[in-house]
Amino acid sequence: MSDASSAFPQHIIARKRDGHALTHGEIYSFVRGATEGTWADYQLAALLMAIFLRGMDTAETTALTEAMMRSGVIADLSHVPGVKVDKHSTGGVGDKVSLPLAAMVAACGVPVPMISGRGLGHTGGTLDKLESIPGFRVGLSLADYARQVERIGCALIGQTKDLAPADKKLYALRDVTATVECLPLICASIMSKKMAEGIDALVLDVKFGGGAFMKTRPEARALAEAMCAIGHAMERPTVALLTRMDQPLGRAVGNAVEIAESIACLRGEAGSGADDLMEVTYALGAEMLLLAKVAATATEARAKLAATIADGSALEKFRAIIVAQGGDARVCDDPTAVLPRARFTSEVRAARSGFVREVDALAVALGALRLGAGRIRAEDTVDHAVGFTRLVKIGERVEAGGVLGIVHANDEAKLVAGCSALVDAVAIDDEAPATEPLIVERIG
Ligand code: URA
Repeated sequence: MSDASSAFPQHIIARKRDGHALTHGEIYSFVRGATEGTWADYQLAALLMAIFLRGMDTAETTALTEAMMRSGVIADLSHVPGVKVDKHSTGGVGDKVSLPLAAMVAACGVPVPMISGRGLGHTGGTLDKLESIPGFRVGLSLADYARQVERIGCALIGQTKDLAPADKKLYALRDVTATVECLPLICASIMSKKMAEGIDALVLDVKFGGGAFMKTRPEARALAEAMCAIGHAMERPTVALLTRMDQPLGRAVGNAVEIAESIACLRGEAGSGADDLMEVTYALGAEMLLLAKVAATATEARAKLAATIADGSALEKFRAIIVAQGGDARVCDDPTAVLPRARFTSEVRAARSGFVREVDALAVALGALRLGAGRIRAEDTVDHAVGFTRLVKIGERVEAGGVLGIVHANDEAKLVAGCSALVDAVAIDDEAPATEPLIVERIG
């Protein structure tokens, strides 16, 4: 075939089926076929499965990412001074890091253009959390997004229909053809959307463990290395941290309850107890400040981030973002008065004394889903008020009758289900468990 880009879909599918590396032209033909509808869904799905089974090398994965990024509009933030840096997490339970992080980094003068997602599977989504703030709009146009990043240094919005539309089509097909868990497809899906945001650099939080999509550290490392390689090939410096996701991050899992926890962290409230949440936030934030060249060392970066909490500038930045996006900014002063609250709450108590050995993140996430905090089907609506708070952490001492967590529900049957999910998620032993580091590796 002299011009591979004009090859018939079945030829391209056959080449990948037989284990060949696809050319740039063949990959662009596939992505155009997805965007313009010139390939039938069964042909797209057949090639996705061939990629799933045969894989892609770095050059193919980079070409796929570029083609998907160019399938729609690429946001232009060139008029915004400074190095624009975003963070992406591969998804976890109680993972509200984006909220304090975006405000703290933007308060350090680094523009943070952040396009986030909704809950996916058992993992929560930043957009669903933000929408628990009354009035908050995540659906800004790309023009409003660019203006807001210029004006206040940060926008927290959802994917627009003109950004990487090929991913929307291909992701929906992957979801129903058992081709989601495929490293080159995950890489291209995430990186094409991030690269289309108008960023100059990217920090990735690649999670592994029971509450993450990548269950093992080697799988997470492979994904992190592949995404960093693509970032560098596309001249957007990219750094990844591998972080453990065996227990929920922080002590709250849900939507409004996670906003309240984030605000407590931004207010520097002693006793918020979310040390692990802030450990990940500081580590990612330091990488962002280093990439943006506003700090020369990690120590300097951490000091700058800490100053934004101490002087209140991070909370003020969060308030400015909420105001700009139509939300009720009084939430920053009195979260409980502003955020939706569930009708029923119940404390779950320990049956015995000992040390917490496990708080199974996946079990807690499935409990939150049952309460209505996420979606079981795409068309489900999210109940922003429900979830868990005051969750115990691994290694803590509890006494018999002590509180393991509080369940928030809007229906009595769901309250019972949430309580039993939490009882099953927590394991208590006589001995204190060995402590495992939360941030295990840096790649990039
Ligand atoms: N998140 C994405 O955006 N895409 C994937 O393929 C997986 C997780």
